[in-house]
Amino acid sequence: MVTESQSLNTPHVYIKHLNEHVGSEVTLKGWLYNLRSSGKIAFPQLRDGTGIVQCVVLKNAVPPEMWESLKSIGQESALIVRGTVRADERAPSGYEIDVSHAEILQAVHDYPITPKEHGPEFLLDHRHIWLRSRRQHAILKVRHTVVQAVRNFLDGNDFTLCDSPIFTPAACEGTTTLFEVDYFDDQKAYLTQSGQLYNEATAAAFGKVYCFGPTFRAEKSKTRRHLTEFWMVEPEMAYATLNDVMSLSECMLSYIAERVLEDRAEELKVLERDVTRLKAITPPFPRLHYDDAVKVLHDGHEKGVLDSRFEWGGDFGAPDETYISGQFDKPVMVHHYPAAVKAFYMARDPERNELALGVDVLAPEGYGEVIGGGERATSLEFLQQQIAEHELPEQAFDWYLDLRRYGSVPHAGFGMGIERCTAWMCGIEHVRETIAFPRMMYRLRP
Ligand code: 4AD
Ligand code: MG
Repeated sequence: MVTESQSLNTPHVYIKHLNEHVGSEVTLKGWLYNLRSSGKIAFPQLRDGTGIVQCVVLKNAVPPEMWESLKSIGQESALIVRGTVRADERAPSGYEIDVSHAEILQAVHDYPITPKEHGPEFLLDHRHIWLRSRRQHAILKVRHTVVQAVRNFLDGNDFTLCDSPIFTPAACEGTTTLFEVDYFDDQKAYLTQSGQLYNEATAAAFGKVYCFGPTFRAEKSKTRRHLTEFWMVEPEMAYATLNDVMSLSECMLSYIAERVLEDRAEELKVLERDVTRLKAITPPFPRLHYDDAVKVLHDGHEKGVLDSRFEWGGDFGAPDETYISGQFDKPVMVHHYPAAVKAFYMARDPERNELALGVDVLAPEGYGEVIGGGERATSLEFLQQQIAEHELPEQAFDWYLDLRRYGSVPHAGFGMGIERCTAWMCGIEHVRETIAFPRMMYRLRP
């Protein structure tokens, strides 16, 4: 988009569109990223959110006062420059700007984030400005593409977006991770852990649906994979099974990887991501029965890689997931977990009642579970019994049980955490950098 600059009479151009303006005079509006200068020449690097470009200011080409103020400004000074676009193969962006005029909106001299190493706590305290740095910018652009890919994929496959509420009357994923809030008239409400139960209602109305929004977990967990507020996309399909969920998972993740590789090549370079790992994400993904996953863990124990011998029946810890996924270069789909470690709504294996028709998709490279889902129980009596066994308030689930009274059919779906997926795509250590303002056990600011 080109808009007429108010202050300078040339078109305002975004840095990412400079290729369309070679040889022309343009106005760029942004912030100073870096500045080198000598006696007669200065090289301010300007960033505008769409890119970074090096500008060239010759002392003789601008008024003396402009030269004086320009050569002393610090990082993140607000700056509008006018100049001619020149293609230059040696320039990192491919272009340089020969500046004829500069306007300093605000000179900054004490920007807190400097090129020296800062600790993670300092950077997280300054998250509101840390977002401007090249690496953080690259990560959030990848996140944007992950979200866009998810929406394109589901919209293109006939899923209808039906968002679910944030205030909910009861737990979906276990009562130990609920955030309670005061509601009106002494009622308690809980921040949603998952929109799934509502998805099951909308799936019966629309066939294929998804919800996509923030979800909350009061987990007292400080790992690199946990946030207390994270974004989850949850597709749900009527007349669908565990196998359908596995097929949808592998297609969606492969599509996301393809979009990220194509649309965010520059950002992946900034992040020094090994793209061969992303190129490997193509269907089909290996499918591993829980029983076989346990055998893999026993094998790991015998080889001395895993400290303790895994007991059949338990849920996998992070080291277990890492070991299992380490056996494959693609994500691996572990299915048929023991029902005892899964949520109340899971359908059971008709052949082995102790197993749930659930699946976790474990990403390679130690990223762990990125998708959790499966087939839902269809029987009213079974669910009533499950709700009682899990000590959940039956009254709060009355509407949910109606779905088993009126036209109950096999249905299935999953949830994917956007931050875990983004961390994996970026190849970064911690999910906290994949959301603009992370919420964690010990972080509620900025
Ligand atoms: O496995 P989870 O808990 O599954 C559900 O909530 C289902 N009701 C979803 C469904 O079937 N519709 O969570 C799904 C995904 C995980 O695989 C993970 O990617 C992400 O949500 N996730 C988290 N991400 C960041 N921080 C946390 N604390 C997370 N907890 C889950
Ligand atoms: Mg899970």
